[in-house]
Amino acid sequence: MVNKNLVVYYSYEGSTRVIAETIASVLDADLLECRPIKDISSKGFMKYVWGGRQVIFKKRPQLETFEKNPTDYEMIIIGTPVWKFDYAPAIRSFLSQVNLTNKKIGVFCCHEGVKGKTLDHLKEDLSNNTIIGESDFLNVKKNKEENIAQAKKWAMTLNDKKGERGE
Ligand SMILES: Cc1cc2nc3c(=O)[nH]c(=O)nc-3n(C[C@H](O)[C@H](O)[C@H](O)COP(=O)(O)O)c2cc1C
Repeated sequence: MVNKNLVVYYSYEGSTRVIAETIASVLDADLLECRPIKDISSKGFMKYVWGGRQVIFKKRPQLETFEKNPTDYEMIIIGTPVWKFDYAPAIRSFLSQVNLTNKKIGVFCCHEGVKGKTLDHLKEDLSNNTIIGESDFLNVKKNKEENIAQAKKWAMTLNDKKGERGE
């Protein structure tokens, strides 16, 4: 049987990956990691400079080829780190590459306290779909277990919401 749930994410330093994997295990979902062919490679302060620059210029880095076709899935969860109060450029690439319509979508972000309009922008750019949930995860590295527990709980609510719509 085809798996109907997909978790799509980008992660530069691993936090969003941890949350995406947790959600995928609860939902028994497939995972699709958006991997830029040439990602930023800076650490420390410079990662904010180079990453922030990509956000300001709305860059869409070219992604490695996907092994899964997102349009095959009914429910798609999309996760991103917050970059400069917005979603990450690799997710911008994903959204411009894949035309998602009529999907049930959950969105989440990982951040360090200032998420800005990240989820609002993500939802705006997915307006041809039904948003069934959103969540944000604060300081995943520092509070890993707490965030994993939050992710499990949230994933269960998504499953319920999907069910409510008669799936
Ligand atoms: C380029 C860049 C910009 C960032 N901008 C923000 C920000 O605006 N607000 C915030 O709370 N955290 C910001 N962060 C921190 C990340 O959102 C946070 O560490 C997140 O958990 C990282 O997820 P990841 O490990 O999956 O890459 C930024 C990080 C980077 C690399």
